[in-house]
Amino acid sequence: MIRKLDIISKYSKYFVRNVRNQSTRPMCDTISVCNRNYPTDSWTNITPNILSYQGRNIYMKKNHPLSILRQQIVNYFYKTFVNPKGNAIFSVFDNLAPVVTPEQNFDQLLIPKDHPSRSKSDCYYVNEKHLLRAHTTAHQVDLLKSGLDNYLIVGDVYRRDEINATHFPVFHQIDAVRTLHRDKLFKNNPELEIFETNFKTSPTSFLPIKSSLKCIDQTKQPCHTMEAVKLMEHELKTVLVRLAQTLFGKDIEYRWVDSYFPFTQPSWELEVYWKGEWLELLGSGIMRNEILEAAGIGNTIGWAFGVGLERLAMVLFEIPDIRLFWSNDSGFLNQFKEEDFGKHMKYKPISIYPQCANDLSFWLPDNMGVDDFVGNDFNDVVRDVAGDIVEQVSLIDKFKHPKTGKSSLCFRIVYRHMEKTLTQNEVNEIHSKITTTVEKRFNVKIR
Ligand code: DAH
Repeated sequence: MIRKLDIISKYSKYFVRNVRNQSTRPMCDTISVCNRNYPTDSWTNITPNILSYQGRNIYMKKNHPLSILRQQIVNYFYKTFVNPKGNAIFSVFDNLAPVVTPEQNFDQLLIPKDHPSRSKSDCYYVNEKHLLRAHTTAHQVDLLKSGLDNYLIVGDVYRRDEINATHFPVFHQIDAVRTLHRDKLFKNNPELEIFETNFKTSPTSFLPIKSSLKCIDQTKQPCHTMEAVKLMEHELKTVLVRLAQTLFGKDIEYRWVDSYFPFTQPSWELEVYWKGEWLELLGSGIMRNEILEAAGIGNTIGWAFGVGLERLAMVLFEIPDIRLFWSNDSGFLNQFKEEDFGKHMKYKPISIYPQCANDLSFWLPDNMGVDDFVGNDFNDVVRDVAGDIVEQVSLIDKFKHPKTGKSSLCFRIVYRHMEKTLTQNEVNEIHSKITTTVEKRFNVKIR
């Protein structure tokens, strides 16, 4: 099953999609991730290909476009929020290990137990108790518990997804949290309160059992006063619009769009008008009070946002293919200079290498229908065997034989190397390796 998502949707769509689950068999009893050994189980679905990106830290490499963008955003927060002595009040975390628990990635953020974003077909699980974070928001409660009130976290995140020019299973996000205690928020109006009188949230009942119980009142959470929410909303929107102007230029056209995230209420996305279309830039909102309560923080309200770096960098620097960020080619890397941000820093193609497309059709096992096949499992096999030379995988045909009742699928795999021309022979060899692996792994019959 291939899900055709809006190519650039990484945010709220992640919280509303629907996928199926399929079991996988780990090859070994243990797996080593970030220098730690974990026992494998039926949840383990991290592939060697995914592990190979671990520790490359491209977002920290000087003059890498992702690093330039990271630095711009961090500098903006350092400059915007200072204490009376002139010191920056935001702390920055850029090297937290990406292995987290489902509690951190989902439960603590109030993502319902039955939510599809938890499924094995969407996430890379180390085992039942650990996964590679699917968003940097996963560290929110831990950082709040450790006493932080304003912070940014930058890091790599992992999602199983389709293969094309804008999706890659490893990408980078920045998440920010800004909290204010009543005494600071209302320092000029000490008679005002953050919370409605007589309203209590209950930390024990904060995790909704069913997605359908999500609260979507866009005005405010019941516990908050309108004054507190409006002040925070005003700060959030002002700060984030100025961030967009810092990145895209003073004259950028923008709009706020209502959104939904389980961990914020109300929630908004900021969109900017760029080259003829509205681009979703970031997700944000007023933090759910249950999260602050669970972290043991009282009489405080917060706002938060999350932004994906690749998509922003692709737009700003006109980088056409997400795989380029992983390139070691100096022809790519030398094009970007930190100090040139704001000047005309646009990607110039190193060279255009030709594509090569090969199809792969197979009959599914007798008991399987076309919708039982998990596209992301197929994508991971393709990535594991062929690596980054695959530019796109698309499901081009589904067929059910009228007599035998057997179902078949046909995938088109488009190959293109970022740094050289691939010969048809090289492609054929890799394609046939994919074919035999797919045959064994999914118990299918090649047509
Ligand atoms: N974690 C969200 C995602 O990956 C993005 C996000 C939205 C982060 C709202 C936030 C937030 O901190 O408040 O799609």
